[in-house]
Amino acid sequence: MLIHHLEEMIERSPKKRISYQDYMAAVLYAPQIGYYMRQKKKIGSRGDFYTSGNVGDAFGRSLARWFVHLIKVCGVSPHIVEMGAGDGKLAYDILVYIKETEPLIWDSLTYVLVETSPFHRRAQQDRIGMFKQASLAVEAEEWANMNGIVFSNEFFDALPVHVIEKDGGSLAEVFVTMEGGRLLEVKEPLDNPDILTYLAERSVTLQDKQRYEIPLQMVQEYEKIASSIRSGVLLTIDYGYTQKEWQESAHHQGSLRGYYRHEMITDALMHPGDMDMTTHIHFDTLMDIGKKKGAAVSGLYQQHEFLLKTGILQELKGHQETNPFSETARRNRAIRGLIIGGYSDHFRVLLQTKNLAEAARIFPD
Ligand SMILES: C[S@@+](CC[C@H](N)C(=O)[O-])C[C@H]1O[C@@H](n2cnc3c(N)ncnc32)[C@H](O)[C@@H]1O
Repeated sequence: MLIHHLEEMIERSPKKRISYQDYMAAVLYAPQIGYYMRQKKKIGSRGDFYTSGNVGDAFGRSLARWFVHLIKVCGVSPHIVEMGAGDGKLAYDILVYIKETEPLIWDSLTYVLVETSPFHRRAQQDRIGMFKQASLAVEAEEWANMNGIVFSNEFFDALPVHVIEKDGGSLAEVFVTMEGGRLLEVKEPLDNPDILTYLAERSVTLQDKQRYEIPLQMVQEYEKIASSIRSGVLLTIDYGYTQKEWQESAHHQGSLRGYYRHEMITDALMHPGDMDMTTHIHFDTLMDIGKKKGAAVSGLYQQHEFLLKTGILQELKGHQETNPFSETARRNRAIRGLIIGGYSDHFRVLLQTKNLAEAARIFPD
């Protein structure tokens, strides 16, 4: 049971408390018992949350159409890596689009799905195992030194973070401890050198009572990703803020939260191991790391803006049906949901390019 695992971790630690990063790593990724490691459906109506790729195939097809543009017009190599590829649904939609429309690219295509969760790797194998173009990897290192496209959808928001807070004028780190079998938070003066360096390098200052997540694992992952690609495009789709936006008072509570059976849970210590945990990501950090590794920022877009630029409207189908639940009506509704308001409004798309000759033609005319 996960709660016993947490109890042991806390008991073993010298100060009887663990960082939020260790807490999240345990509840999400402890072998066999962490949320993502268990045999339990996570994405879709019978899971805890939806992702854009899981509401129909238009999202995947739009990405695929744009990948084809990058390969044909911008000279990007036909090699795609998807980080945190989940249940493989998005990969499947992308692969099917390219197979059906671009036989020449299809012949030389490689598509690597990088995924930690054994449950999701099995789902990927079931979905895309028949395509020789696709392969599965557990770690980013397995595809080092590539030319092509590295992308992710809602990957960085699933990585563990430290949590800090400004309290009475000084910075504290928020830890997790246990009392009488109950999980609770405890604050201590901030002395973690990695967190202090992260804040100093970015000149981050907090208001009193402001909470802030420190994404040290995202930094590690992105340094690996941005170094691994020699030439091509880095595409990150996720919810998050720029440093300027983090300073707005609406975001002073931080963004750590859970999703449990499609309900948003603000108490991060609830349902350990049964609930997804997530944070909004720090786009400036990804941009800075990219720059250090030679990847230029091509743009930070709202997801709907990016999807319109990459031609999602071509996915709409004309029809005369009156039945609002017909397949075409539902499909068109899903597309409208991706481009107008609601759920889709929270997502952004960060585009970075490295050693790309035709970077100016990155979007179709
Ligand atoms: C929120 S889910 C998103 C899944 C998928 N991209 C989608 O859009 O449906 C995050 C995924 O990232 C995976 N993940 C987390 N840390 C990872 C890591 N270090 N390397 C690869 N995959 C990881 C999780 O197991 C999970 O499948």
